[in-house]
Amino acid sequence: MIPQSFVQDLLARVDIVDVIERYLPLKKSGANYFACCPFHGEKSASFSVSPSKQFYHCFGCGVHGSAIGFLMEYSGLGFVDAVKELANQAGLQVPDDGKPGTGAHEDATSKLADAMADSSRFYREQLKHSKEAIDYLKRRGLSGEIAARFGIGFAPEEWQSLQRVFPDYQSKHLADAGLVIDNDQGKRYDRFRHRIMFPIHDRRGRIIGFGGRVLDSGEPKYLNSPETPLFEKGRELYGLFLAQKAIRDAGFALVVEGYMDVVALAQFGVDNAVATLGTATTPHHINTLLRHTSRIVFCFDGDAAGRRAAWRALENALEALRDDTTLAFLFLPAEHDPDSFVREHGADTFRKAAAAATPLASVLLQELKERCELDTAEGRARLIHESRPLVTRIGAPMLRLQVIKALAEASEMTQAEVEQAFGIKPATRPKQDGPMPDFRRSPRPAQPARPQGRRKPPSAIGTLLRLILQHPAWAARLPIDLVPDDSAEGRAMIAIIDLVSLGEPIPAGGLGALIERFRDTPHGETLARLGTEQDESEFEDAVIETLFDDTLRKLHAYAIDREIAALLEHSRDGSLSSGERHRLTELLLEKRNLASAGKLSDL
Ligand code: UTP
Ligand code: MN
Repeated sequence: MIPQSFVQDLLARVDIVDVIERYLPLKKSGANYFACCPFHGEKSASFSVSPSKQFYHCFGCGVHGSAIGFLMEYSGLGFVDAVKELANQAGLQVPDDGKPGTGAHEDATSKLADAMADSSRFYREQLKHSKEAIDYLKRRGLSGEIAARFGIGFAPEEWQSLQRVFPDYQSKHLADAGLVIDNDQGKRYDRFRHRIMFPIHDRRGRIIGFGGRVLDSGEPKYLNSPETPLFEKGRELYGLFLAQKAIRDAGFALVVEGYMDVVALAQFGVDNAVATLGTATTPHHINTLLRHTSRIVFCFDGDAAGRRAAWRALENALEALRDDTTLAFLFLPAEHDPDSFVREHGADTFRKAAAAATPLASVLLQELKERCELDTAEGRARLIHESRPLVTRIGAPMLRLQVIKALAEASEMTQAEVEQAFGIKPATRPKQDGPMPDFRRSPRPAQPARPQGRRKPPSAIGTLLRLILQHPAWAARLPIDLVPDDSAEGRAMIAIIDLVSLGEPIPAGGLGALIERFRDTPHGETLARLGTEQDESEFEDAVIETLFDDTLRKLHAYAIDREIAALLEHSRDGSLSSGERHRLTELLLEKRNLASAGKLSDL
């Protein structure tokens, strides 16, 4: 846990322009800085960094956030690591929250990480001296260069070889790191013996685990580190640390099954591959990869097990899907895995196949249709029945709609019938605020596209929020009871006012700091969205005071209108109390006064 006050100090101290400039060349244009977006392939610079807002935003792909958010996106770091990295760059020491255990936990894991690094060094050294191991790798076609790049090593055929690395061989942390095993008789021995060793790195490049392969046909073929405080299999991807840049350059990530697949592909110049670690692809894996790229190609072995793995990956990906991401599947011929395929056919053929991989929705539909006999009513009903739990989980609304349309066609039902069977609201219903307009009686022509600039006029709340972002101290002047909580912006505003009334200073680090203050709440995203919408202009200082007062008055007027409407509604039942009637008169008068103040012609 990192104290919020530290995050705020940090963001007030660093400049997002300096932070991003370490990773991207930025060019100044007007008040902002620009670069080609590192998160999607592009030739024109639509990635902008605002020094005044301490906020970045890509007009192309929509990514946005604070300096911390940038490090998370760019380096794939978690929040805590991103804060640490940023603090490091700023020369600040990250305090812990004073909560018991956190500091100690850091110490313990770094001790384990040191042990992993030391043993990896030892295994690499052993490889140099083992003809048997070198011959094995040569037979598998690996070059010395690629073995070195992946830090491949060799655990000798001995029970306690690690004693040579760790004089304190009996120490508890070696067992915690999963390097040694204590047997029932209390005797300790090395977990990895007589195996080719593949170190597994986390996203920062620390070694957190190993996979060890037998040299012959022994069992198990691969022995992996157990789950330790450093190593959680369902979260890590083999090769990601090394592949990060290649994934960005290639524009997609390749997910394969085996250590050897990753290494062999890299040797042939396909170095954007990662592997799951003997587990199914988890939603966590997918979300991690989607932080690096918007396209993932799964390439599993061509056998039945590979097809099962593909289906599991598909199921686990459904929630993570977005309309601007593509997940696709490359099915190799049954006798191949990526390793053997790239050796036989070469990198170009492999790349072409990856580019032509089958998109997830097609795989989904094809598999579902294959399971049902579509020329019978029963089969078509079954198709809908079986699709429901999958399709309703698809996180991308437009893709889901596409799949539903395809299912409707295949099942000889209408789209509405399928949607009804799935128990979901039609995706095409227009979004609206407030009461549902009656489209049937007063068909409104479609809004003409605005020439350029904003998509919709800013709401009063939106305007106030923007003013506060520019002049945070004014938050103290906002009357909380005027702010309706029926919109995301209203709720964000109330949260800010709450913060001020509790005596917390408004973040000094601009919009970036404010959204970090509300990280993991819906308000963070609301504020960020606002920040992305108003990039063209900030308010001029000359008009800002008037604008602020004017908007407040507008809010006041809205509040009056709401109350009047409620009372009138009530009076239709003929049941207004004398107090209520009095209040109604008061409100109507107030409304007139406000209107005659002149500025509010639109009331
Ligand atoms: P494969 O058997 O396809 O491995 O298992 P591979 O990488 O192609 O290995 P080679 O080419 O035979 O050397 C795929 C992955 O499943 C996990 C490993 O992560 C392996 O890379 N696995 C497999 C295990 O964890 N244990 C096993 O015994 C076998
Ligand atoms: Mn293989």
